[in-house]
Amino acid sequence: MNQIITIDGPVSSGKNSVGHLLARKLGYHFIDTGSIYRIYTLYSLEKNYLVSDLEKIDIRFKTKSHDTLIYADGIEINNRLHEPKVTEFVSKIAANPEIRSISKRIQRQIGKPQNTVMTGRDIGTEIFPDASLKIFLTASPEVRAKRRYEQLKKTKPELTLMDVLNQIRERDKMDTEREASPMRIPEDAIILDNSYLNVEQTVEKILEHYK
Ligand code: DC
Repeated sequence: MNQIITIDGPVSSGKNSVGHLLARKLGYHFIDTGSIYRIYTLYSLEKNYLVSDLEKIDIRFKTKSHDTLIYADGIEINNRLHEPKVTEFVSKIAANPEIRSISKRIQRQIGKPQNTVMTGRDIGTEIFPDASLKIFLTASPEVRAKRRYEQLKKTKPELTLMDVLNQIRERDKMDTEREASPMRIPEDAIILDNSYLNVEQTVEKILEHYK
């Protein structure tokens, strides 16, 4: 049977860098489910897609040496998914129960046929509750804000660390308090606080549990 490793956790907890490296070390596929919600947000904003249209989008993830390329209807779309307008609206889109149920089907379809590391907010609780290894990755809001600030400061010099910390707290609140599949720690998850670990060290810790 194929193995699924789930990594859930809040914004800027390092899920995607960690998940990507872990998948590479194990020869697994890597799926970041946040990008599915980001594709839905982009299509809703730009193409006026309704919920019923979202199901028709052909979403594929292709692992290419050091990167995972994400395709929507055959078009490589990675660099559009973190545009500010997408980031601004994605939490609202991800809170819609109908959208979540479409996305749930797609996540299972994509993950099942292959050994997969899948990252998100509800992967260990809702999508693959029987996964062989579940990680809940976290770090303090201050450390996560610092990481995010370092990423953003070149393109958005007007932002302060305090702005970013406030945004992180707001996103955490939306992700944990929404009614449809809020972010929860799976009961059987290993909780890993990586406030003082880099990506490599975090992956090493996960590999110890994997073995
Ligand atoms: O991880 P991210 O920032 O790309 O996620 C974008 C949004 O989607 C964020 O508001 C949380 C939400 N999300 C979710 O609700 N469930 C998932 N499995 C993945 C992301």
